[in-house]
Amino acid sequence: MASSEIVSCHALNKAYQGLDVAVLDYIDLTVSQAEQVAIVGASGSGKSTLLHLLGGLDAPTSGEVRVLGENLTHLSEAQKGALRNHALGFVYQFHHLLPEFTALENVALPLLIRRTSREQALHEAAHVLEKVGLRHRLEHMPGELSGGERQRAALARAMVTNPQCILADEPTGNLDRHTAHAVFDLLLEMNASQQVSLIVVTHDLELAAKMQRQYRLVDGQLSQL
Ligand SMILES: Nc1ncnc2c1ncn2[C@@H]1O[C@H](COP(=O)(O)OP(=O)(O)OP(=O)(O)O)[C@@H](O)[C@H]1O
Ligand SMILES: [Mg+2]
Repeated sequence: MASSEIVSCHALNKAYQGLDVAVLDYIDLTVSQAEQVAIVGASGSGKSTLLHLLGGLDAPTSGEVRVLGENLTHLSEAQKGALRNHALGFVYQFHHLLPEFTALENVALPLLIRRTSREQALHEAAHVLEKVGLRHRLEHMPGELSGGERQRAALARAMVTNPQCILADEPTGNLDRHTAHAVFDLLLEMNASQQVSLIVVTHDLELAAKMQRQYRLVDGQLSQL
């Protein structure tokens, strides 16, 4: 493995029971350190499935996924969880912030899961929230934030562990055009400043064009745009 390889898959195949064609049909993809990869495709083409497999949230029917050189098929659920917490950050279309916790606590959570002290976790969370422009919103509950602010908090939560790669599934799908570009640009800034790799699913070709590499997922295959 090249030392800069962060996430890769080989001959990745995913078939769901009841569907007669494979959603992912022998896909190869390698993402190196600090690379930016956009994935576009029609609804139902398998974009979320691909991200879930790359992040070890689901298992392929066949083929392999490697994260930091580790073949996920050879890892237990606990080992996969630890590797995910250490190497990856996830951003979803609908933020998935916990409604009963403040922005600060939500962002601190991945650190608390890895047993960072509460004081240190809150300190680091505040620092990342500041970076995404939410210094004045630390104590707000998710329900008290705007859509764009929620997505920025979700980005902060994904970044707080200093992951090597962010997997983002329509992170701006729910935002108006101006806010979508602002949140997307924040991802690109993090990529530039922290050398974090980005794998971003978006239906927005204009946003995808901001990334170094763009692929379209059609009939289970990735084709470079
Ligand atoms: N758990 C599941 N069981 C059965 N079929 C599934 C499951 N999850 C997804 N599928 C099917 O796999 C296909 C790909 O789904 P996926 O969610 O990956 O698409 P997508 O490209 O992310 O779509 P969207 O743009 O609407 O989010 C769809 O046809 C979907 O119905
Ligand atoms: Mg999807």
